Amino acid sequence: MKGTVFVELIKMAESAFGEDVVDDVLDKADLESGGAFTTVGNYPCSELVKIVEAFSEHSGLSAEVLQRKFGAWMLDHFGENYPDFFKGKTDSFAMLEAVDGEIHVEVRKLYPDAELPKFVTERKSDKHLEMTYSSPRPLAAFCHGLIEACVERFDETAEIDRGPTRPSDNSTTFQIKVT
Ligand code: HEM
Repeated sequence: MKGTVFVELIKMAESAFGEDVVDDVLDKADLESGGAFTTVGNYPCSELVKIVEAFSEHSGLSAEVLQRKFGAWMLDHFGENYPDFFKGKTDSFAMLEAVDGEIHVEVRKLYPDAELPKFVTERKSDKHLEMTYSSPRPLAAFCHGLIEACVERFDETAEIDRGPTRPSDNSTTFQIKVT
């Protein structure tokens, strides 16, 4: 995964727990990378999972909750640093429908080694979008946080249900109903 993702995860942890705690937790986490990440590097997703687990143990928050919070953090990061991807999108459904065929396609052009998930979307009605995520990486909860923050970014509210995750391809289906 791109170093940016790791750099942002550490930033979020620092803002939540403070720098000293973060240094301490990373030291103890037994990371291959030694816990030093740069935006230009690439690191295995297993490191991200380990870091989330380490902060989960430290904080008592579940890995699920932390991944979701991190998804929301990343959506804000994308919004601030890549505003062009949001331009012309009038609502969250338009944005979410554009991730697979447009946004991540551009991301891949910018970063040919990016590790991106697959999405299939279906509009069930004006107010109901079904979105299926699959990936070699176990980041369904992270994706949940991205979707929640995307809805918020467009000043909407929605009920978001996530079905069970299939371990074989980490896939899960979100039912997103704007209220
Ligand atoms: C709500 C909209 C979005 C959703 C639901 C979404 C979903 C995801 C997910 C779940 C991942 C983790 C990789 C995986 O699960 O396999 C990911 C990675 C990524 N996405 Fe998106 N994304 C969204 C918008 C964006 C935008 C606007 C950008 C603009 C830059 C972006 C750039 C990236 C990048 C750079 C990665 C990391 C790739 C890597 O580490 O190699 N995404 N995205």
